Amino acid sequence: MGNPGSKANLKGLVLAGGKGTRLRPLTYTGAKQLVPLANKPILFYAIEHLVASGVTDLGIVVGETKEQVIEAVGDGSRFGGRVTYIDQPAPLGIAHAVQVSREFLGDAPFVLFLGDNFIKEGIAPYVERFRAGCYNCLVLLCPIDRPQDFGVAELEGERLVHVVEKPQTPPSNLAVIGIYFFDSHVFDAVRRIQPSARGELEITDTIQRLIDDGLDVQAQVIEGRWIDTGRHDDLLEANHLMLEDLEPDLLGSYDEASTIQGRVVLQEGSEVVNSRIQGPAIIGERTRIVNAYVGPFTSIYHDCLIADTEISGSVVLEYTRIEDVGQRIEHSLIGRNVELRGHERRPHGYTLILGDFSKLHMP
Ligand code: DAU
Repeated sequence: MGNPGSKANLKGLVLAGGKGTRLRPLTYTGAKQLVPLANKPILFYAIEHLVASGVTDLGIVVGETKEQVIEAVGDGSRFGGRVTYIDQPAPLGIAHAVQVSREFLGDAPFVLFLGDNFIKEGIAPYVERFRAGCYNCLVLLCPIDRPQDFGVAELEGERLVHVVEKPQTPPSNLAVIGIYFFDSHVFDAVRRIQPSARGELEITDTIQRLIDDGLDVQAQVIEGRWIDTGRHDDLLEANHLMLEDLEPDLLGSYDEASTIQGRVVLQEGSEVVNSRIQGPAIIGERTRIVNAYVGPFTSIYHDCLIADTEISGSVVLEYTRIEDVGQRIEHSLIGRNVELRGHERRPHGYTLILGDFSKLHMP
């Protein structure tokens, strides 16, 4: 194995703990990293990008939703990797998650990948750059319109001089994205930072500590598209991005009265009856679409029923039933086990059982 600190031994650390507060109510019963984009959990894209870059020894940090994450990912072999699960007793910050992973990481350099971050074009060039260079840390940046919701970087030429977490007055438009490269100096830095105002050990403070210690911290502005899927609109946008490249695949069945147009995936066991599907769209395993219209940029996950309803530009999670809804459902994010049913009879009142933090826009 040679020198454990060698970049040939790069490991991956994926964070799948945390609270998911901003994605409520979707995240009351599920891990936010398992919400699907084009019917594949966000977390799987992170794992696939790591493995595709040659990083196969993976640690996944888990919290409250541990069981679900383990059930979905397993031992990592189907991704071509090997997964070790690491318990984080409480979501005390990203840097805390790094700290509790010390035993798994040892002295190996590693890629830290936040499990709710989505980077469409992958990470191979950045892994390559970190492996080739002698840096202690490489931070990836993306220019965006509202950097104040993220860690924000200040550069002097190409040198990273300052990083600050969610500043009211951002020093630049360069957001720090949730994919970082570290060597083992990071553990000493985490030990010497204090919890922030939100009570967390921040990864930005850790990076600032490395800079202040005079270590070699580099930054790179990424070329491709990056989305932190922490909010509803961002999730729909990431779903849209993934459906743009959908490869048609009709594994399910459809009858003669149905029309399938554009790039459509019917996953195994799905069934389309007397309906129109206008791609790009994906219909999950065992899902039934009956007398319905499914419009572009829609992902319906497994075991759902969409009947006598029009839906477009939306994401629907598993075991949800939508029937007889009079108006087209658009730009919507609908959770698991939801029942949405219109009715013909008067009075036309609404009957609602909505969870906390639900959002319903009615005409
Ligand atoms: O998305 C990039 C941003 O991620 C950076 O720009 C920020 O500098 C960085 O602090 C982080 O900000 P967020 O406030 O968005 O982080 P969040 O609390 O959403 O956590 C990110 C991921 O890490 C999420 O998948 C949950 C996981 N996590 C988080 C914490 C705090 C853990 O596994 N354990 C934790 O203790």
